[in-house]
This record gives sequence, structure tokens and C-alpha cells, in this order.
Amino acid sequence: MLSRYEQALEALNRRGRLRKLEGRAGVDFTSNDYLGLAESPELTHALQEALVRGVPVGAGGSRLLRGNHPEHEALEAEACAFFGAESALYFGAGFAANAALISTLPQRGDLVLYDELVHASTHEGLGLTKAQTDFFAHNDIMQLEDKLRAFRVGNKDARCFIAIESLYSMDGDLAPIAEIAKLAARYDAILFIDEAHATGVQGLQGRGLSADLEGQANIISLHTCGKALGVSGALVLMPELLRRFMINRSRAFIYATAPSPLMAAGVRTALKICAKADDRRARLQERIGQLNGHLQKMGLPVTGTQIQPIVLGADRHALDMAQALAREGFDIRAIRPPTVPEGTARLRITLSANLTHDNIDALGAALSRLMQERAA
Ligand SMILES: Cc1ncc(COP(=O)(O)O)c(C=O)c1O
Repeated sequence: MLSRYEQALEALNRRGRLRKLEGRAGVDFTSNDYLGLAESPELTHALQEALVRGVPVGAGGSRLLRGNHPEHEALEAEACAFFGAESALYFGAGFAANAALISTLPQRGDLVLYDELVHASTHEGLGLTKAQTDFFAHNDIMQLEDKLRAFRVGNKDARCFIAIESLYSMDGDLAPIAEIAKLAARYDAILFIDEAHATGVQGLQGRGLSADLEGQANIISLHTCGKALGVSGALVLMPELLRRFMINRSRAFIYATAPSPLMAAGVRTALKICAKADDRRARLQERIGQLNGHLQKMGLPVTGTQIQPIVLGADRHALDMAQALAREGFDIRAIRPPTVPEGTARLRITLSANLTHDNIDALGAALSRLMQERAA
């Protein structure tokens, strides 16, 4: 009965695509803990204090039943104030939040236009929605406009949604948010902005790249709390009306145990730390500049953000390079299709404010040597 699973795994293995869980080893150039908060004393103490004042670990039920806790509500109120949004809803994970949004708000007769590089969690929602879906080439605002215009010709009243990331998770580049927001306004579309990798890192006080747009009636943003904020879960910021709609219609919200109140308390602290973390952001920026210097010397393109892919093409090349770097004490993972498009397997290097100057120089030297060996 189980043999088909075995065969499927063997097929993945033959193609070099078998995934395995691996332990933590080597200097961290792979996590999304960009500000170095996940293991920080500030967060650890805040959670200890929260436990002492009686915040429960488990919610015990759905938010709509007994699971709604004052910590969730306090977090959502503080998130609105911090990000400048009208309302916020806290989910247990960004994946669930994205899937919930895209599968709940767009409905039959509507259209969702998404950037071709959006995350798997958005695709999860796209797979569930009854709306039509179509993609546009990465960051191609001309193509986006063509598709918006074409849709509006015959669909004056239908809703149209645009789904993008502000900082792309596997490519490390930024979306032209201001231009896309203008198109959204011109074509009466709702803009979903997944800020997963920008929250905490980009914008004033780490409020992300959509901060200037927050509070507008057609803007929905998602701020994950398990990356730069160092905790877990995700905050969806949106107009109050849409929050009420999500609470009434989102299956992932209604039929799930509420996120841990303790984690909500942790995110409240993380937001306070984030607001004052200019020193951490400056350190991260310095490390980014330093790594860029090394990569440019090797003739490699740079993103200028904390996510730096080195596209190597074939899966085998990316895997071999990641293994060679692991042997030298660096934790950098190979990212392969289907996570990235075919033929673009890569190393995904991420930087954190915790890394030292020496860590970056050591990586630069190792990469330069290994890339030369590969070319020879
Ligand atoms: C762009 C993007 N959106 C959403 C998510 C999902 O967030 P979470 O890890 O909180 O489930 C991720 C996670 O990697 C992501 O990269």
C-alpha cells in the first residue's frame, strides 16, 4: 500500500531532489533571523516574564470559541499603531495567513494577478480560490497593466487583486511597490503585499516597504513574525471591514486553534524591539555592503539586500557548492526547483545582524576559492 510513496521518493532521489531534515551546523548564513532576535536575551526575558504573569502557552480553541485571548487583541492593536493600519489579524503562520487571504477574499468572477515569483503560500491560496488567476512576469509593470486593462474592459464591477512580495524570498530583489500601487488605484484593484522578508528590515523602524500605503482601503499587507521579528505567526493588516469578513469566512481562521498567546506576547515585544532596532539594521546593512564587495570582485550580481542568491543553474552544482561550504563551516543551503524555476538552482545566502565582520570575510574568501575551482 505504501510502495507508491517509496517509488515517488526514489524518483525524487534519482533527480537529486530528495529533501531531508538536517541539524543546525556551521555559521548561520541561511536562516531568516535577519535582526538576530530569535535567540536574543530581550525576547527570552520577555517570554519568561509573560509566563510569570500567567500568559498561557496554548489558546485552547479557535479564536471564535474560547481561544480568543487578551494577548491576541493587544498584539493586534499594537500592530495597527506600529504599522499605521486600520486593523490587524494575527495568524499562527504566514503560510496559513497567505493561503487564507487568497482563498477567502477573491471570489467567483474576480481575478487575481500575481507576480510569477510569489511564494508557495500564495500559490496555496490560488489553488483554492474560485476566482480566475493569472500571472505577470516578475516585476513587469507593463505586463501587469496590460492584464489589468484587458480585465477591466469586460469586467467593470468584478474585483481584481494583485499579489506581490515586497522583497522576494529567493531572489532578494524589491518590487516596484509605488508603481504597482498606482496601477492598483488606477484599475480599482486590491493590492496584497507579502512583506515576509521586509518586515523588521526595510522602511522606517522596520515597518516594511508598504508603510506609506497602510491604511488605504485597497491595501492588504502580511507581516510574518517568524523571520526578522524572531518569533512566529503572521499579522495581516487590512481595512476593518475585511478583517470582519475574514473572521466570518476564512476557514483557516475559523477552524483552527488560535495561535499561542505566549507567542503573541513575544511578538508584542518583538515589535517594540524592532521599532528601536536601528543599530541592528545598520549592522545588517554594513554586512550586506561587505558581502556585496566580495561578490562584485568575483563578478557576481548583487541584490543589495540581506538575501543574496548565487544562481548556479543545475541542481547538482548548487548541492555540491552547498556541501563544499558546509565542509568549511558555513551553513548555506542549495535551493532547487520547484522552489525556484527550472535551471536556476542556487545558493541562497542570507545575512543577519549577528554575523561578524570576520564571518563575512571568511565566507567571501571561501566562495571566491570554490567558484574559481568550479570554473577551472
Ligand atoms: C514570502 C513568504 N511569504 C510567506 C511565508 C510563510 O511564512 P511562515 O514561515 O510564517 O509560515 C514565507 C516563508 O518562508 C515567505 O518566504
